[in-house]
Amino acid sequence: MTPATTQIQEIIDEVHTKYKKVDDGTVATYIPELGRANPQDFGICLATVDGQLFTAGDWEREFTIQSMCKPFAFQMALEQHGMQKVRQHVGVEPSGDAFNSIELDPKTTRPFNAMINAGAIAIASLIKQTPTEAGIAAFLATMSRAAGRTLTIDEAVLESETLTGNRNRAIAYLMRNFGIIDEGVNESLHQYFAQCSMLVNCRDLAMMAATLANMGRSPVSGESVFDFQLIKYVLTLMFTCGLYDYAGGWAYEVGVPAKSGVSGGIFAVVNRQLGIAVYSPKLDAQGNSVRGILACRDLASHLGLHSFEFTNTGSNFMQWLCGD
Ligand code: DON
Repeated sequence: MTPATTQIQEIIDEVHTKYKKVDDGTVATYIPELGRANPQDFGICLATVDGQLFTAGDWEREFTIQSMCKPFAFQMALEQHGMQKVRQHVGVEPSGDAFNSIELDPKTTRPFNAMINAGAIAIASLIKQTPTEAGIAAFLATMSRAAGRTLTIDEAVLESETLTGNRNRAIAYLMRNFGIIDEGVNESLHQYFAQCSMLVNCRDLAMMAATLANMGRSPVSGESVFDFQLIKYVLTLMFTCGLYDYAGGWAYEVGVPAKSGVSGGIFAVVNRQLGIAVYSPKLDAQGNSVRGILACRDLASHLGLHSFEFTNTGSNFMQWLCGD
């Protein structure tokens, strides 16, 4: 341990101890299987672009990725179909509404963006394959390369989502009506539900975030996982739309691209520097992890990560870590 790495670990431990006492929020139960989460679980992981890991608490606890799959699926759609085609199906404007709102942009009849359910289902429709299991396998394979280990689906959560996903079905049929998605409505929904049901822990998510931060190259294997020329679009959407109706507050206070999920995870990307993941299943009214937001807010503040922080020159964190 160098003085810098010791200091980072101390900051993470401190943030974990501070917010472990917070007990606000409620575990999501609208997907019944999510209600089985232990409300006390609290894990943090920070992964740097050179593969260093800093962890605290229940960072190894697995949970389903839920909406945090959306930026990665969006990246895959951009890579497979190009910007123009994807834009014909999904917009890039913050909706300011809840993640599951049954609405399309009235001016275009497209979903507002790919971070809300409507947009994510439209994206799932673009990256699905025939048979559907092939599209799911392709998603799992790409995510596994980003995480640096083999990831799998939680079949119980997938079944629970499928049984209770009528709101998403309503959104999908609305989009089918406007020609936003093709006739494979059930296949698109199955792709989306399966993506959301993929199991990760904080290390996986932080590593996937660090892969985005590292211009698409895995910090562990060095392998190129994502097309670096498209990552800027994904990070922009995460910055403007990643936290739904709290997106503005998040950008203001934390100041980095991020995405949350109803399982209680949040991951954030500090471009060219690191990825952060926090897991704690109790959610606030907007569906974001209560402790996750508090922890990210403190980490960004203590480590000077806000994109517009005057000390942040784009790679200062890594320079500090490497002792430059
Ligand atoms: O579609 C749903 O409702 C879930 N599979 C994912 C929602 C989600 O994670 C929203 N995030 N806060």
